[in-house]
Amino acid sequence: MRQGPPSYNAGAVSEGTADLTRRKGDYGFDAPLLPALMGATGVFLAVVGLVIALRGGSLSNATGPWLAAVFFLLSASLYVYTTRVGKFVVWADLLQHAGLRGDEHLLDMGSGRGAVLLMAAKLLPAGMAVGLDLWRSIDQSGNRMETALANAEAEGVRDRVQLHTGDMSEMPFPDDAFDIVLSSMSIHNIKTAAGRSRAVSEAVRVLRPGGRLLVADIIATGEYANRLHELRMEDVRRRPLGWRFWYGGPWVAASLVTARKPAAGAETAAHRRMRISRGGETPRM
Ligand SMILES: C[S@@+](CC[C@H](N)C(=O)[O-])C[C@H]1O[C@@H](n2cnc3c(N)ncnc32)[C@H](O)[C@@H]1O
Repeated sequence: MRQGPPSYNAGAVSEGTADLTRRKGDYGFDAPLLPALMGATGVFLAVVGLVIALRGGSLSNATGPWLAAVFFLLSASLYVYTTRVGKFVVWADLLQHAGLRGDEHLLDMGSGRGAVLLMAAKLLPAGMAVGLDLWRSIDQSGNRMETALANAEAEGVRDRVQLHTGDMSEMPFPDDAFDIVLSSMSIHNIKTAAGRSRAVSEAVRVLRPGGRLLVADIIATGEYANRLHELRMEDVRRRPLGWRFWYGGPWVAASLVTARKPAAGAETAAHRRMRISRGGETPRM
């Protein structure tokens, strides 16, 4: 990584971003049961409205169910847009502004079918993009290592992609192994706060000093930021990622947490104060 935090402009889509999102693989649907349920509820309510209208002989009685049907169908459509298009546009922009040289070693925690991992791999002609996953199909449809490898082949980046099976809260990688660690929509799948905290600690452990972390998620991003502060990460920031990353509506909006691991031997003034005020005790990494 060369420079500061990535930017994201929720409105415009630049030419480079559009290039990166032109994909040849198939990346499935995130948590596929959710849009299916939203869509089915919408259709059911529309039919209920129709039956009420036909039986009562009046359209006004059906207004309630029909409005609710429109709500669910719009929600399902927005969800499908985000999982099929929106998240690719957002990540393409984030990766393009991440200041990659092209020779970095990058880790994607919970890489699934490779939506983000393989876009990153395109920007790493002399580097390596490593994905770690448990391949849970409840979290992403058709989620298998073979599918991700086929996508890597289709995108023309198979030579610089490695996939591993493993739990992100106990990663099979040595300390300081990666220049950049990222994760998209994955850490929240760990049910307990303690488990999510372990995953964030693991991300920091495998990141080299000076390396950068980028995590996009829909819940618990405040938790992640707090943990990163405890772990003495620098430049910890959290911000919303805009409507393209809404899973059904603004009530399920993704945010981005970014941070940098301090260069070896570095200690920020804030942490020096914290250590001194705690009588020499420092938080554990
Ligand atoms: C919603 S999918 C997102 C996949 C990919 N990051 C993307 O944006 O397309 C969540 C992914 O996290 C993975 N996952 C869930 N819990 C995990 C864990 N404890 N360790 C590793 N991967 C996990 C799932 O198998 C799934 O592939």
